[in-house]
Amino acid sequence: MARLRLAATADVHYGKHSRGQFAEAFAEISRVADVLLLCGDLTDYGLAEEAEQLVFDLREAVHIPVLAVLGNHDFESGEAELISNVLDRAGVTMLDGAATEIEGVGFAGVCGFGGGFGRRMLNAWGEPLIKQFVQEAIDHAVRLEQALAKLQTERKVVVLHYSPIRETVRGEDPEIFPFLGSSRLEEPLNRFRVNMVVHGHAHNGTGDGATSTGIPVHNVSAPLLRKRSEHAPPFRVFEL
Ligand SMILES: [Fe+2]
Ligand SMILES: [Fe+2]
Repeated sequence: MARLRLAATADVHYGKHSRGQFAEAFAEISRVADVLLLCGDLTDYGLAEEAEQLVFDLREAVHIPVLAVLGNHDFESGEAELISNVLDRAGVTMLDGAATEIEGVGFAGVCGFGGGFGRRMLNAWGEPLIKQFVQEAIDHAVRLEQALAKLQTERKVVVLHYSPIRETVRGEDPEIFPFLGSSRLEEPLNRFRVNMVVHGHAHNGTGDGATSTGIPVHNVSAPLLRKRSEHAPPFRVFEL
């Protein structure tokens, strides 16, 4: 089975004047990888105009398939759909509850949502607003599950913005853990025996972790990757 090289990054947070910001990294990715995964927070304020800046850099430098999910920042200005359209027109495959296949590897993705982890996970109990919050997290997990169910491939990769496990958000203030991810996203990963998961959102989290059944989970948040060293590239490359 041919190996597929997957470049992954997150939290590029493109603003109105960000053109060129990731140009060098994108050019390098296009040289060393077969696929690019963008794990959300593509824009800073959730403006379609910001997505246009990102698309400019992608068009210039990236000549491999690009798959993406949105992040919470991309929802900030009520233009999430416009942002998806801008990316879609540039040839980026948006994985919002969708699945796709490249060279025999299946990809599924959703943004995800908060609610916290393990025994301390928020439950649908009490005020209607709490129930609504929990329902949003459940909806994302269900859409991920439905996307995974569509894949017939032996190898499967999941792209998220929020974390499915506590381990890769460690390093952030514990007070915000419940806003960084949800264990509800973990169950479908284990059940469908996914090979690998990438996410972002926790800029100060931890690079590597695993689900309860040992599935590797990688936090590829660009600000986190840049902290490794002065010249560390804001992306990682995995082979599958
Ligand atoms: Fe972010
Ligand atoms: Fe985020």
